[in-house]
Amino acid sequence: MTQTKSSVTLVDNQSGKKYELPVLSGAIGPQVIDVRKLYTDSGYFTYDPGYTSTGACKSKITYIDGDEGVLLHRGYAIEDLAEHSDFMEVAYLILKGELPNKAEKAKFERDVTLHTMLHEQINRFFSGFRRDAHPMAVMCGVVGALSAFYHDSLDISDPHQRMIASYRLIAKMPTIAAMAYKYSIGQPFMYPRNDLGYAENFLQMTFGVPCEPYKPNPVLSKAMDKIFILHADHEQNASTSTVRLAGSSGANPFACIAAGIATLWGPAHGGANEAVLKMLAEIGSKDRIPEFIKRVKDKNEGVRLMGFGHRVYKNYDPRAKVMSATCKAVLGELGVSDPLLEIAVELERIALQDEYFVSKKLYPNVDFYSGIILKAMGFPVAMFTALFALARTVGWIAQWNEMIEDPEQKIGRPRQLYTGASKRPFVAIEKRA
Ligand code: ACO
Repeated sequence: MTQTKSSVTLVDNQSGKKYELPVLSGAIGPQVIDVRKLYTDSGYFTYDPGYTSTGACKSKITYIDGDEGVLLHRGYAIEDLAEHSDFMEVAYLILKGELPNKAEKAKFERDVTLHTMLHEQINRFFSGFRRDAHPMAVMCGVVGALSAFYHDSLDISDPHQRMIASYRLIAKMPTIAAMAYKYSIGQPFMYPRNDLGYAENFLQMTFGVPCEPYKPNPVLSKAMDKIFILHADHEQNASTSTVRLAGSSGANPFACIAAGIATLWGPAHGGANEAVLKMLAEIGSKDRIPEFIKRVKDKNEGVRLMGFGHRVYKNYDPRAKVMSATCKAVLGELGVSDPLLEIAVELERIALQDEYFVSKKLYPNVDFYSGIILKAMGFPVAMFTALFALARTVGWIAQWNEMIEDPEQKIGRPRQLYTGASKRPFVAIEKRA
């Protein structure tokens, strides 16, 4: 981050005073107005609900150009990573800043793999949940509970302990997500198998059973790995910002990630792929698409085309392109012809030509096709967001580490525009109307 020679002048029309606000520039992307001293100098603070115009941190991890549909992790395009890399390599890249060489990759994989098992006591924690609990509720609880188990990785000022906590989270999330699923269907938990790759092992723990050997399907393992890559990080979205905000108080890393999981759960964020499938099922057939689109365009109906639109992308989400190709590959491998895919393809075609969506720059996002693939692979709808959380843990923990290491980091504390009552005298209960 560098301070440019230019600045922005803010003129207070009431007092006539002028304030010079420095302009900062990053490596790429729009310049930012530095308002850090605005309140001290002027007595004003900024109002920006939803942070649509506010940068809350500097970061070297992920770059998005929403207008052009570009997503880079540490400078590498998501399309290249999805095609040429694997999730462990992308995790290393996001966490450490560079692609690993062969030896570094092998060591990283081994180091992470050594942490795949959970403390045996956590297995019992699961039985406290109802069998019909949503996997995100279970994950939120279990990941938060990890903070009560790993006391040797709690000194967040120690980079080594932070890295151990990061490895633990990346390694244990597939185990926890698979256990949440197994618990919901009443099957025994499958222990991790460290001879398998990250995605393969997750599929083994999810779909394997103790009474039969698990045979990984390379096409499905690759697709799972690709889905993980596509969800690994996405800059300062709601859940990542939550992790940073929680972490800014010095909170326990496992508790911070649990906060991220809670935020991701919402239908406007990670819950969207679940919502897409529900929407496609509700539409039911291609001939009912025009009627549905009409409802979306009618503000009074309060219906949104789920899987479309994004706060940052005002162009095709680059992840959606990879996801749509992966979707076709998986369905081809499994020999599945899903009527929902046909509805999705037609819905996308119609929406991309419709003035409403075109003028508002609403394009498919990563969630538009992911639900169809996951359904074809055998995941129940409720597990979709859990898979997202599993993959996003890499981004969350990398962003958390970056924040802790940033000397400019402060506890996150937004201000507000107070619109409530002014100070007034207390009224005794017997005198109240
Ligand atoms: N369907 C119909 N209209 C939409 C949609 C949609 N999916 N998304 C936005 N709009 C319209 C809004 O009604 C609004 O119209 P207006 O200007 O006439 O009032 C305009 O587009 C801007 O919408 P906002 O909600 O202000 O945009 P915002 O950036 O706050 O929202 C969001 C982004 C939440 C993703 C939104 O597009 C949405 O709800 N999409 C559907 C849910 C979804 O797919 N979420 C996944 C996001 S990706 C992820 O988290 C992995």
